Amino acid sequence: MPIPNLGATQTKFKMADKTPYVYRRWHNHSALKLIFWACIVAAFIILLIFRSPSPDFSSEKPPTATWGGLKWENRVQMSALTTSSRHLTVLVTGAAGFVGSHVSLALKKRGDGVVGLDNFNNYYDPSLKRARQKLLSKAGVFIIEGDINDAALLNKLFDIVQFTHVMHLAAQAGVRYAMKNPGSYVHSNIAGLVSIFEACKSANPQPAIVWASSSSVYGLNSKVPFSEKDPTDRPASLYAATKKAGEEIAHTYNHIYGLSITGLRFFTVYGPWGRPDMAYFFFTKDILKGKSINIFEGPDHRSVARDFTYIDDIAKGCVAALDTAGKSTGSGGKKKGPAQLRVFNLGNTSPVPVSKLVSILEKNLKVKAKKNVLPMPRNGDVVFTHANISYAQKELHYKPTTDLETGLKRFIHWYKDYYSGNRKKSS
Ligand SMILES: NC(=O)c1ccc[n+]([C@@H]2O[C@H](COP(=O)([O-])OP(=O)(O)OC[C@H]3O[C@@H](n4cnc5c(N)ncnc54)[C@H](O)[C@@H]3O)[C@@H](O)[C@H]2O)c1
Repeated sequence: MPIPNLGATQTKFKMADKTPYVYRRWHNHSALKLIFWACIVAAFIILLIFRSPSPDFSSEKPPTATWGGLKWENRVQMSALTTSSRHLTVLVTGAAGFVGSHVSLALKKRGDGVVGLDNFNNYYDPSLKRARQKLLSKAGVFIIEGDINDAALLNKLFDIVQFTHVMHLAAQAGVRYAMKNPGSYVHSNIAGLVSIFEACKSANPQPAIVWASSSSVYGLNSKVPFSEKDPTDRPASLYAATKKAGEEIAHTYNHIYGLSITGLRFFTVYGPWGRPDMAYFFFTKDILKGKSINIFEGPDHRSVARDFTYIDDIAKGCVAALDTAGKSTGSGGKKKGPAQLRVFNLGNTSPVPVSKLVSILEKNLKVKAKKNVLPMPRNGDVVFTHANISYAQKELHYKPTTDLETGLKRFIHWYKDYYSGNRKKSS
């Protein structure tokens, strides 16, 4: 039954009855009431704003970064020294990381000047990053402790060193962790990337940039092998989405400011000094401890497979990308002409099922794994990766040479050696 609108009719009727004086008083009275209620509502909104938690875009907490001072500047400049004028001067971000430490060593070894930058966050055991830092320090590479979002630090660095190239590897890696700490991906992979591009765009001369994208941009694609020409608009994780966003941001900085930018889509990199959050690493740890491991399978019991790529092959690809990078064309933040923009797959072109990975580990560790076979949870992982590397072969002469069996043997050798001398770190 419709409800008669009595309130509205009554109000209308009463208003017609009022004298001007009564009406003015009534009017003032309701204005006061209106102001009173507006104040209450405003106070409530202010209270809500101050009480609601602000979005946390912070990465895993880095220790307090310290930089600056004459001694610090000298260390940076020493680290940037090249053995000849034809060598590169490279800022390597994420230098205390897995790929960053290998690429820094490879560059330093051939005479390039290398300055590292890393915030040593605790996404995984920071003592492993410190051990890599020691290794680099022995080779003459200084790693600055700082965040890529620190614009003042980046500007200072470009003030005191004329970097010819930036190898940008700092990022929040890992697919599954994005469900736990999405803000850290926005902080490092989006805001951090923009911060690096901003510093490079304003530098004079502008450096050429090579940066790590990821095979994860292929997301839910089923056409294999994955080619750079394939669409990348169905990411399966926030990690993948931030890398895809990075590729679009790279396009913008290339287009507006003339930055020479090369993106590298790495395919499951493994090897000595690797990342403890990756399956081959924690499988090794758990198998040795007699703990059971979870092996995931795709829909219809399809085995999960990865195009595992050995770290030395990846490092060679990174160096080749730096060597073939065209110069940036901008100056003082203004573009002077078209600049190079490239994206390459760096994979191994030979996907291996995870079950095979486990059997290679079992054989080399001489321990039988306790396996739980489970359906793959929807946590951002994809079932299959396989790289088409013909473009990198043509342009970078990229040619991976290490098969999974050989690479894992080298990893296990390093793992046993590292953790036997550092037992505390394996717990
Ligand atoms: N390892 C792989 O299989 C793989 C695959 C595809 C793409 N990638 C990409 O390659 C790059 C290197 O990966 P990795 O395996 O060496 O990872 P990693 O985590 O070992 O190295 C990344 C390093 O960056 C540092 N870092 C993170 N955020 C930072 C910030 N805001 N400021 C300064 N430093 C910061 C970390 O402390 C870490 O040492 C990353 O961009 C990653 O996304 C890696």
